Amino acid sequence: MPRHLLKLSDLAPAEARQIVLRASALKRQADSGYRPFVGKTLAMIFTKNSTRTRVSFEAGMARFGGHALFLAAGATQIGRDEPLRDTAQVLSRMCSAVMIRNDSQRDQEEFAAHSRVPVINGLSDLHHPCQLLADLQTWFEHRGDPRGKVAAWIGDGNNVCHSFIEAATLFGFTLRIAAPAGYQPDAAVMGAAGDAAQLADSPAAAARGADLIVTDTWTSMGQEAEQQKRLQAFAGYQVDAALMQLAKPDAIFLHCLPAHRGEEVAAEVIDGPQSLIYDEAENRLWAQMALLEFLFGIAA
Ligand code: CP
Ligand code: NVA
Repeated sequence: MPRHLLKLSDLAPAEARQIVLRASALKRQADSGYRPFVGKTLAMIFTKNSTRTRVSFEAGMARFGGHALFLAAGATQIGRDEPLRDTAQVLSRMCSAVMIRNDSQRDQEEFAAHSRVPVINGLSDLHHPCQLLADLQTWFEHRGDPRGKVAAWIGDGNNVCHSFIEAATLFGFTLRIAAPAGYQPDAAVMGAAGDAAQLADSPAAAARGADLIVTDTWTSMGQEAEQQKRLQAFAGYQVDAALMQLAKPDAIFLHCLPAHRGEEVAAEVIDGPQSLIYDEAENRLWAQMALLEFLFGIAA
């Protein structure tokens, strides 16, 4: 059975840590000419837009000697309702791994159950594990081991938040979550994290003394019709300079992007000195290549 990454908790703590540290090593030796993926093809199925996920996988595969296939679902037979199990069987006889971005964790699980090759979640309704590998890489690179530290999630308890919750368990930090009623994270994901993830009463309560502040868009892909309602629900949840002041003086700011300045984050924060958003985006490439090495069983 191949290993998959459908959610971050598919990895053991030591595996997640190894991938993140390996990502930094790959980055340090960027010009080494290392080509572990010669002859390998990554199929990438997208039913939603993407800049970072597509480009990081595609550029990474090219850099490391492999090939990536961009498959817009609507341009394939998936878009004409070919059963996922058939697509999984067929792609996994031709490709070395499959990445999927869609709005159904359940469909990704079904696909993986019928795949002979690793399947990677490139964002679903419930999780965004690749984002968290890059986020943890960024945290390690700028502030060292996050074990015992505190992160504050401000905003929507969404897919990225769920992966952040799982990261707290895997990497041994505490995640305080400030999310308005009706937008709090999935109870099962929270429950599995135990004390590692805690609901805070307010953005200020979450941010006070934190080592890292993170947020995401208030209106995720597919929720555009709810935008006005969401703007009202999230009033008071913007990460602004006053909120950052409550965190530790050397706290860092992360955002998976795309961002909406003036909504979930003030321009002075996301464009300010504590923001690491472009390192974080770049690290998608290194973290995912380290992940592929791991899933292919290539010894580092
Ligand atoms: N953060 C992230 O996944 O970005 P894209 O939607 O551009 O892939
Ligand atoms: N929560 C966002 C993340 C985008 C990378 C979305 O689902 O659209």
